[in-house]
Amino acid sequence: MHPSPVISRSYDSEDDLRLIRGLLMEARARAGIWRYPLIAETMWPVFMALRHLDPRRHIRLWFAGEQLAGYAFLGEDPSFEWEILTDYRDSGIETEATEWMDARLGECRAADPGKWSGPIVAGARQDDPQRIAFLEEKGFRRGGEFSEFNLIRPLTDPIPERPLPPGFQIRPVSGPAEAPARAAIHRDVWSPWSVARIDGQDYLHLMHLPGYKPELDLVVTAPDGAFAAYANGWLDERNRIGDFGPVGAQSAFRRLGLSRAVMAEGLRRMRTLGMERACVSTGMKNAPAIALYQSLGFTIVNQYLEFIR
Ligand SMILES: CC(C)(COP(=O)(O)OP(=O)(O)OC[C@H]1O[C@@H](n2cnc3c(N)ncnc32)[C@H](O)[C@@H]1OP(=O)(O)O)[C@@H](O)C(=O)NCCC(=O)NCCS
Repeated sequence: MHPSPVISRSYDSEDDLRLIRGLLMEARARAGIWRYPLIAETMWPVFMALRHLDPRRHIRLWFAGEQLAGYAFLGEDPSFEWEILTDYRDSGIETEATEWMDARLGECRAADPGKWSGPIVAGARQDDPQRIAFLEEKGFRRGGEFSEFNLIRPLTDPIPERPLPPGFQIRPVSGPAEAPARAAIHRDVWSPWSVARIDGQDYLHLMHLPGYKPELDLVVTAPDGAFAAYANGWLDERNRIGDFGPVGAQSAFRRLGLSRAVMAEGLRRMRTLGMERACVSTGMKNAPAIALYQSLGFTIVNQYLEFIR
């Protein structure tokens, strides 16, 4: 039995994003850090939904009294994500969220079949049989392409220090004037995936979102000043965890140790900010990223399995 009836409403404002972040930190504290997504994994797709979709139609929240008990969003591609605070799992929110998603997806497909008619992708951590059973009951089947490894490293372990190639430097993005260049390197790294579709205005929006930490928006500059690699860091202050994502290097500047160096700087900064561990996730097929993270002392602790319907 739950003390308050659960009611749902559409996403309304950035205060809701603060609540979503708070739910994730609280849920990670109660259920163990690998039952729930990283802050980075949630902030990025929510940010994309805020910029490319109508968030009131694509993000929904469930409240028990004042407390956010769960949220769901229907993202582009299409993708379905939902998280529910531990105490409210099995209270009917999963079912309501799926029905809400199906109704929205139906509307999207009717309005723009070209964009929305592909299979819908969702996921579950491999140690979450309840969520896996729910997905299967709702007609989802195991996919594979976007399954991910979740990795972790303690910040008490030594952080590798290696010199950068001559002329390269690490620093945070200096401010709004660099948003277009910062968006441009993100596009270059991630094209042709839909996650690449951001411009300077989008990046400016990201820089003002709750939870964005300017000192953890790190770049490596090439000798001519161009951005060569980057890593975004986010904080889960409740659990003292620094989360990375996204991470990338321009193809012309790969295998120079730039991503390792920028992440090492991120790790040092996270430690200075009081974090005790760092987390990152990447596709199981992304051998370069897995090798990069392992070279920084991360180890694989869980798997996020892709499900498709
Ligand atoms: C993954 C990625 C960020 C690596 O960036 P990078 O700057 O080339 O990596 P580094 O030069 O710092 O490599 C550090 C270590 O990682 C490993 N590594 C990096 N790329 C590798 C590759 N292609 N194959 C095997 N190992 C690789 C190696 O151990 C390397 O050390 P070494 O060169 O001394 O052997 C880059 O390939 C990229 O941007 N890919 C596309 C975006 C992406 O997948 N991002 C990460 C997913 S969240």
